[in-house]
Amino acid sequence: MNNEIKAVIEKLRLQLNEHSYRYYVLDEPTISDAEYDKLYHELLNLEQNYPQFISKDSPTQRIGDKPLDGFSQVKHEIPMLSLGNVFTDDELIDFDRRLRDLAEINEIEYSAEPKLDGLAVSIVYQNGKLHQAATRGDGTVGEDITANIRTIKSIPLTLRGELIPAKLEIRGEVIMPRSGFTKYNQTAELLGEKTFANPRNAAAGSLRQLDPKQTAKRPLKFYAYSLGVVFENLEFTTHIETLNWIQSLGIPVNNLNQTVQGANGCQKFYEKIGKLRDSLDYDIDGVVYKVNDLALQQKLGFVTKSPRWATAHKFPAQEAVTVIDKIDVQVGRTGSITPVARLKPVVVGGVTVTNATLHNEDEIRRKDVRQGDSVFVRRAGDVIPEVVKVILSKRPKDSVEFQMPTHCPVCETELHKIEGEAVLRCPAGLYCDAQRKEAVKHFASRKAMDIEGLGDKLVEQMVDEGLIKTAADIFYLKQQDVSQLERMGEKSAQNLLQSIEKSKHTSLNKFIYALGIREVGEATALTLAQKLRNIQNLSKSSVEELKELPDIGPIVAERITQFFSEEHNLQVIQQLLDAGIYWDEIEVPDENTQTLAGKTVVLTGTLTQFTRATAKEKLLKLGAKVAGSVSKNTDYVIAGANAGSKLTKAESLGIEVKDEEWLMEL
Ligand code: IVH
Repeated sequence: MNNEIKAVIEKLRLQLNEHSYRYYVLDEPTISDAEYDKLYHELLNLEQNYPQFISKDSPTQRIGDKPLDGFSQVKHEIPMLSLGNVFTDDELIDFDRRLRDLAEINEIEYSAEPKLDGLAVSIVYQNGKLHQAATRGDGTVGEDITANIRTIKSIPLTLRGELIPAKLEIRGEVIMPRSGFTKYNQTAELLGEKTFANPRNAAAGSLRQLDPKQTAKRPLKFYAYSLGVVFENLEFTTHIETLNWIQSLGIPVNNLNQTVQGANGCQKFYEKIGKLRDSLDYDIDGVVYKVNDLALQQKLGFVTKSPRWATAHKFPAQEAVTVIDKIDVQVGRTGSITPVARLKPVVVGGVTVTNATLHNEDEIRRKDVRQGDSVFVRRAGDVIPEVVKVILSKRPKDSVEFQMPTHCPVCETELHKIEGEAVLRCPAGLYCDAQRKEAVKHFASRKAMDIEGLGDKLVEQMVDEGLIKTAADIFYLKQQDVSQLERMGEKSAQNLLQSIEKSKHTSLNKFIYALGIREVGEATALTLAQKLRNIQNLSKSSVEELKELPDIGPIVAERITQFFSEEHNLQVIQQLLDAGIYWDEIEVPDENTQTLAGKTVVLTGTLTQFTRATAKEKLLKLGAKVAGSVSKNTDYVIAGANAGSKLTKAESLGIEVKDEEWLMEL
């Protein structure tokens, strides 16, 4: 009987390990999380009833029960080195030339890898069982963090496969994914616990916990990038082969690693990963190039603290520390009041940043941001720079809490806070100059009426000069009014009037979108145009009628009826129509031609036949939803040239990948 139980327990462990491997390493789970949990609890139950069969490498035994008093020291048998750096193309070419000269060969093959921004750790397996894990420390001596490393679910407690060396040291990086980091900080804030400035600090803080129960709550991940000590001769000839083998043992290895040829190949990889950088769920601070041929690595050897055969190629930092000179508030198109930090200029991600959004009052309170504070500023891709965290130790003694204004800084109307909303609003609507400007900017913008040459600065100037008060006034501008504006000549005035004239021919959906009704984006505007066919129907629809339309909920319906209940909005619309704005009869898709009705599609890579915007428009017309990121709910991914992580993700989730031709045919 007992033997049977033991066999069941062992089988469950094997099954669970297999599923973990599929999930964490291959990224191809074959069972749901719920099914996994069920197996896990079966095992847990059996082990509770038959504690004599509990073993340290069981998936149930990741979390030790006793907090440590402190970390003991671990000496690295082989020192954990660091990497040299290159920052420019020239430095990269020099690096490669130096190696080619030393090796006396024409072209070197490199293993090119993202440089993960986390913490270097060493994990030793003895006879295939996780034995000890340590931080890098000073490279020679690190701290024993075995109990914490055991809590990271993607790190196997037992290695897979047959031929496992008696002793095997794996080195790699522990990181906290960005998604997990954001969630962690949100929860920590709610609980009044310590938050972290960035995922790297969060990973470091998590590994330094004395209580592994705490570490277990942190969403950490591990990627291996090299071997340390190995008892047994391995017969690999390249670094990439080694990585593939490590992966086959059940240890995650980054899937963006690849071999490249020469400095040119390195440069291309750098650019490719640079483009992917913002879409990855983990921070990277550059890429690493390593000579792929292990014999050549040996020949090239080391300089003092780093291998001669490898280097890091750094990206511009996405984060910097600077000082908030002042906190201002801005008034948005819908009257939302957004606090903005005016910063001492600082370079972040290769760009000089002077402003960072503080989102809203709650956010300022939560982060306790004040004028004069030293702060971490972060800028990822095209996203607006953000204040991530205050460095409290540097706060000036006389600092005071920031108070939001009670009145609109532009029109002086008393501000309102609507229940359930985080933002403060100026209720003056189009009577407020700031909102007037934003409304006109939106109206003229590319996705709306697309008035070429009527940019933000010009709109501001025109409103300030009293030339326009509403969007309709644009169409009643006279050449002499425009040409007298600063930095405007006869010629540019003429061009502007021409493009205003041209914009009169539009489409109903763009016109609806241009009105700037709150919550009515491009997709909603298209639905409204297709279903209601003209402005009269739209303006007369009740909340109940609107709610009947696809994808229109009670809030949107409410906003729409509210917009059309305001007399001055109706007046502006009438003036616009009187000015001669017109559109062609809207093409209403026949239900049968809505080939993609209810499907979710993601676009990625460079398209050649369409711009992103037209492709999106076509998809919407075919009834599809267009999403920005790939998930289980994606039905199709349309991949153009140089598609990156979205394509990889689609492939790993088994989502159908299509090309442009497919869209053309539809
Ligand atoms: S190889 C002897 N590969 O960068 C070279 N390091 O500055 C050992 N890192 O301490 C490192 N991603 O923490 C290597 N793909 C990668 C890496 C990587 C991140 C970190 C690692 C190391 C530091 C070197």
